[in-house]
Amino acid sequence: MIIAIDGPAASGKGTLGKRLADHLGFAHLDTGLLYRAVAAVLMARGTPLTDRDAAALAARTLDVSHLDAPDLRGARMGEAASVISAYQPVRDALLDFQRQFGGQGPGAVLDGRDIGTVVCPDADVKLFITATPEERARRRHLELLRRGEDVAYETILADIRRRDERDMTRATAPLRAADDAVTLDTTDLDADAAFQAALAVVEEKRRKT
Ligand code: DC
Repeated sequence: MIIAIDGPAASGKGTLGKRLADHLGFAHLDTGLLYRAVAAVLMARGTPLTDRDAAALAARTLDVSHLDAPDLRGARMGEAASVISAYQPVRDALLDFQRQFGGQGPGAVLDGRDIGTVVCPDADVKLFITATPEERARRRHLELLRRGEDVAYETILADIRRRDERDMTRATAPLRAADDAVTLDTTDLDADAAFQAALAVVEEKRRKT
């Protein structure tokens, strides 16, 4: 079984994906980390993010064994990932790995922006997780504070709006809900309630198959 979770920045899809995967005994891939890791390679080398060829090469030769590096999760890396993720050759280079991941074991949960639309269009369950930009900024602010990054709420909100705009309007694999996705607006849901709502969608699908 493949569960595809898409949604905008800081919508909580990563936390939800991990929790669903743990509960179901499935593998979990936060695909944003792939784009963040490509951006990190460029930044470590001092290569400008506008260098499309370098970004494509970094994606084709990416070492996926360090996706748990904590520095990938910072705000700066999210912004940089959003820039290089708009390049088609970067996306093409990361596609096979994501698809192979989806094919493993009893099941897999993948979260990102284009999982239900491009990476796994035949996924058994497709969820589109969203929340207002203000609520996402509030959550991201708390998360960064916990990580010791003291970024102003207004800065985070502006970042989120800019990223939404870029991720939704890019020509290649823009962020959007698949036609057959179930949309879950978590603005007024805490993490537990979002998990229960998502699990109910998965369980219903399992009953029917
Ligand atoms: O989910 P995230 O914030 O870690 O993602 C970082 C950026 O990577 C996001 O702004 C756009 C890009 N991304 C993408 O284009 N496609 C995905 N499947 C996942 C992330």
